[in-house]
Amino acid sequence: MRNAPPTPRKWQTDSGEARNQEGFAAPAPAMRVLPLALVAAILSGLTAILIYLSGLSSYGGTRVSDADLAALGALHSGFSKCVDANGLGLQVIGGEDYCRVVIHYPSDTISKWKDPKTGEAEGLSFEFNLCEAVASWEQVRNSTTVLTKEYIDALPNGWEEYAWRRINKGNLLKKCQNRTLCMEKLSLVLPETPPYVPRQFGRCAVVGNSGDLLKTKFGDEIDSYDVVIRENGAPIQNYTEYVGTKSTFRLLNRGSAKALDKVVELDETKKEALIVKTTIHDVMNQMIRELPITNPVYLMLGTSFGSSAKGTGLKALEFALSICDSVDMYGFTVDPGYKEWTRYFSESRKGHTPLHGRAYYQMMECLGLVKIHSPMRGDPGRVVKWLPTKDTIEAARVASEKLLERPGAGSDGPLSTCTMIKKREKGKAPKRYVISDAAMNHLEYMKDATRYPLERYVGGGYLCMINDR
Ligand SMILES: *[C@@H]1O[C@H](CO)[C@@H](O)[C@H](O)[C@H]1NC(C)=O
Ligand SMILES: *[C@@H]1O[C@H](CO)[C@@H](O)[C@H](O)[C@H]1NC(C)=O
Ligand SMILES: *[C@@H]1O[C@H](CO)[C@@H](O)[C@H](O)[C@H]1NC(C)=O
Repeated sequence: MRNAPPTPRKWQTDSGEARNQEGFAAPAPAMRVLPLALVAAILSGLTAILIYLSGLSSYGGTRVSDADLAALGALHSGFSKCVDANGLGLQVIGGEDYCRVVIHYPSDTISKWKDPKTGEAEGLSFEFNLCEAVASWEQVRNSTTVLTKEYIDALPNGWEEYAWRRINKGNLLKKCQNRTLCMEKLSLVLPETPPYVPRQFGRCAVVGNSGDLLKTKFGDEIDSYDVVIRENGAPIQNYTEYVGTKSTFRLLNRGSAKALDKVVELDETKKEALIVKTTIHDVMNQMIRELPITNPVYLMLGTSFGSSAKGTGLKALEFALSICDSVDMYGFTVDPGYKEWTRYFSESRKGHTPLHGRAYYQMMECLGLVKIHSPMRGDPGRVVKWLPTKDTIEAARVASEKLLERPGAGSDGPLSTCTMIKKREKGKAPKRYVISDAAMNHLEYMKDATRYPLERYVGGGYLCMINDR
């Protein structure tokens, strides 16, 4: 096991949650990265680089090796080819280094979405940090994204600080000084341990709400997945040809969560699990108790990393990646020439950055995280061309973690990324009814530990719960 965990950094505030509920947050500031010219110099073995090499050790405890740089180079070039081949006009212009990529739209693209604050139209090029993306998303796949009691119990000041943030304010709880009251407010949505484990489910489909869904009859195809994840108030009835009938999970933003009674009517089976990505509200608790709503309801846990979005769409993909073996996406506006930003079941709405979103999803596809299905990519057998191999992505992940000084970078073992390790109290080990081989292998790899992303520490590590044996 690792040495004593470092003291956690301070929590950041929860300001992002309210702003731009559906849309993408602004791209994160560029990370400290190696300039491409120097990388080239290092790889070509020039003597002048010796000076630079000594500077490299300043990239934290783990040195970035030549092999690491080569891995980042391989990812960068494979990635560019993949976006060119699959992006329907999107092109990558290499940034100044292996981490930065700029995804460009064709110059004749008509940018329709305007920033409501500045009135400015959305730009046609977007910079992303590939290293940040590859390092963060691969970790999401091995973590849990559902808030649990053991997580709050294990955090320093978990109940006073964290729990308080997940409860809707205005109820004068004084930072949960009355812990009993706080626990009461969270009790209906707080399982002791995670209800799902990574890779528990095989093939998953995340269905967005784009009006584009009405262009292709994806219904039967969507129903063929093991798990279907939907968003907010998306109806099924009257649209089954296009959106299918199956519904396993539904991710809810604040507005939908407050209308929980309406949401549960959308699923006739009443088995859909509801995952709330914001705070628990008294109105919600009351409905769960009084109606009563029998669907499982949980709060989602999540990091806000990189150029991440807080939008329900990206959160749904994040949730899917944390429980599924493979993730396919339908109903996101990801084709060129979109006319209006509509939902399949209602008129257009505000608060989106569609071009940024499309570029980001294309990046996710070319990192092997998801597969895009859309009217222009409607062939179910479509193969993502020039997708970097798993080995390339894996090597680039390790290199990126070193470069970004992520906890545990470069070391092996499932617990190396843990910033905090806590033992479960005796008798609190999770009950597990997992069947999938991939999930069993994963649990074995993790030595039965559960990993929780430490929210608000961007890239700041994980809390790992291990069983007290
Ligand atoms: C804390 O909250 C509980 C539940 O609402 C209540 O019964 C109790 O009186 C409160 N305690 C204090 C010290 O306010
Ligand atoms: C489906 O259509 C019927 C008839 O037009 C309507 O009454 C019903 O509300 C619709 N259901 C949904 C979920 O929109
Ligand atoms: C995630 O877990 C799998 C086992 O399911 C393991 O092979 C892989 O190395 C892990 N990846 C990360 C980033 O920890």
